[in-house]
Amino acid sequence: MDSRDFDQLEREAYRLMSPGAAAFAMCGADDEITTAENAKAWRALRLRPRVLRDITKVDSSTLVLGERVDTPLMVAPMGRHRAYHPEGEAATARGATMAGAIFVEPTNATVSVEDVARQRGSAPQWFQLYLPPGMKEREALVERVAAAGYGAIVLTVDQPIGGSSPRAAREPIPPSADIRHVNLPGHPPATTAYDPVRKGVLNYPTTWSDLEWLVKRSALPVIAKGVLRDDDAVRCVERGARGILVSNHGGRHLDTTVTTVEALPEVVAAVGRRVDVYVDGGIRRGTDILKALALGARAVLIGRPVLWGLTLGGADGVRDVLRHLDDELRLAMALSGVPTVADATPDLVAFGRSG
Ligand SMILES: Cc1cc2nc3c(=O)[nH]c(=O)nc-3n(C[C@H](O)[C@H](O)[C@H](O)COP(=O)(O)O)c2cc1C
Repeated sequence: MDSRDFDQLEREAYRLMSPGAAAFAMCGADDEITTAENAKAWRALRLRPRVLRDITKVDSSTLVLGERVDTPLMVAPMGRHRAYHPEGEAATARGATMAGAIFVEPTNATVSVEDVARQRGSAPQWFQLYLPPGMKEREALVERVAAAGYGAIVLTVDQPIGGSSPRAAREPIPPSADIRHVNLPGHPPATTAYDPVRKGVLNYPTTWSDLEWLVKRSALPVIAKGVLRDDDAVRCVERGARGILVSNHGGRHLDTTVTTVEALPEVVAAVGRRVDVYVDGGIRRGTDILKALALGARAVLIGRPVLWGLTLGGADGVRDVLRHLDDELRLAMALSGVPTVADATPDLVAFGRSG
């Protein structure tokens, strides 16, 4: 697959999805400015390739939370995969496993933490947590995740309240009896944060004390997802977070935030020596990934493109999308004189220049 085929794959996937599923995947908040700018910001950065380096062997493996993984790609947590393929998150997790990538199972999954855990390969799996309001439910969910062998908990901190997406509200995913939030008590039918009934509802009122509670309560490392400022990153680390995921939720909740390209350097400067920093949002090319690694990200998370692969080819489609991106990354590394991920340093990127 080359990049042109990859763009084609996106168009085909959106054609194949039901209108509600396509709107839910594509949407950004309000005018979708941040969603569009995330991708443009990576493209606007320019590389400063090194020449005359020995690149006979290019290795994209890296260390994540101190463990070696085959690729710096991970699957971003996204809810409701059974709206895209009958096997849902089980297929996505299997595809990630085939590509050696970490899969992040979301709280709002349509396949349970236990069933997804059965698809695990050599790469660990992580769990994305939206804290349920009741203490009993919280404890039970955190315990289930640990018992199923997940390697880390990614606490999403940027969505206390449902945002507004006109695109998703116009075209809701119709509720279906057999597509349910199976990680939640009572397995309610899967709805989305943009359903008019949930607009403005305080969904997951997570605060600093909740982060502290989770760090104390869970033996698993906790990663804060959705941080865009250095001061917040420092506070998260002071409260025990072992990783920071720089993310604006793919531009889905608050429109006109800074792009993740803009936020990454200040977060890396503030906490990058103490903990892992990851990034997501608009990453669509191997060169985007190389730039993220050069700016100090340990790994990147891929969102929507994974759903394109899932829609078109189930587990194999997910594997192909991830392998395509890793192939492109290794090509970009070779052409930039960067044989290993550790060689990707900030001097590779020229800020403030666009073509
Ligand atoms: C369909 C969809 C559902 C998502 N659901 C969640 C979720 O349940 N929890 C969460 O933390 N992030 C969620 N996200 C945000 C992603 O984890 C990620 O931050 C974002 O999609 C990355 O940007 P990209 O899609 O441009 O790669 C979702 C994103 C999409 C596209």
